[in-house]
Amino acid sequence: MKLLSWSLVPVVMACSAVVYAANIDNVGADREALVARGNYLVSIMDCTGCHTAGALRGAPDPQRFLAGSDIGFGTPQAIVYPPNLTPDVDTGLGRWSDAEVVAAITSGQRPDGRMLSPVMPWPSYARLSSDDARAVVAYLRTIPAVSFAAPTPVMAGSDITFPYMTLAMPASK
Ligand code: HEC
Repeated sequence: MKLLSWSLVPVVMACSAVVYAANIDNVGADREALVARGNYLVSIMDCTGCHTAGALRGAPDPQRFLAGSDIGFGTPQAIVYPPNLTPDVDTGLGRWSDAEVVAAITSGQRPDGRMLSPVMPWPSYARLSSDDARAVVAYLRTIPAVSFAAPTPVMAGSDITFPYMTLAMPASK
């Protein structure tokens, strides 16, 4: 009996190695599925329409995919520029935790406490399920890091050096 149990050790070890490898494969496959879902969501939620340089001129620059826009949106309070969403550590989301990115997207709250302008459609994105929010962040972690610091918000009425878009009402005669 003793002989038998010792002889089973290699079998048990081999089986657990197989189970362990299968688990790693599952984690890899789950991660891949999450990133693919995030890729799909990011494209249909049109993050690039604002966050990729050139998109607001109708010519998004693929080398600067989601790396922030140098054209802002003029609102009555401030001119806001879509920031860099790539994993770049200094100018993008590289230092933000996943929870911080999710909070910005779904509740407009930046890690420094400032609320994002609703030009960033976070009031609509507030309805994202937590799995989908996780998928969006997982995908953002995989895009190439690009160094670009988008202009910080400028209070309305201040001197502005970067272009921005605003609504102009037709002047009455
Ligand atoms: C209609 C334009 C628009 C779309 C579409 C848009 N954003 Fe934004 N986003 C902005 C603007 C403008 C800001 C900055 C607002 C401010 O500074 O108050 C912003 C800010 C952010 C921030 C905060 C970053 C920082 O450094 O403060 C994150 C994160 C973000 N957006 C992610 C996304 C994601 C992910 C998507 C797609 C799911 C998306 N945005 C779609 C315009 C947009």
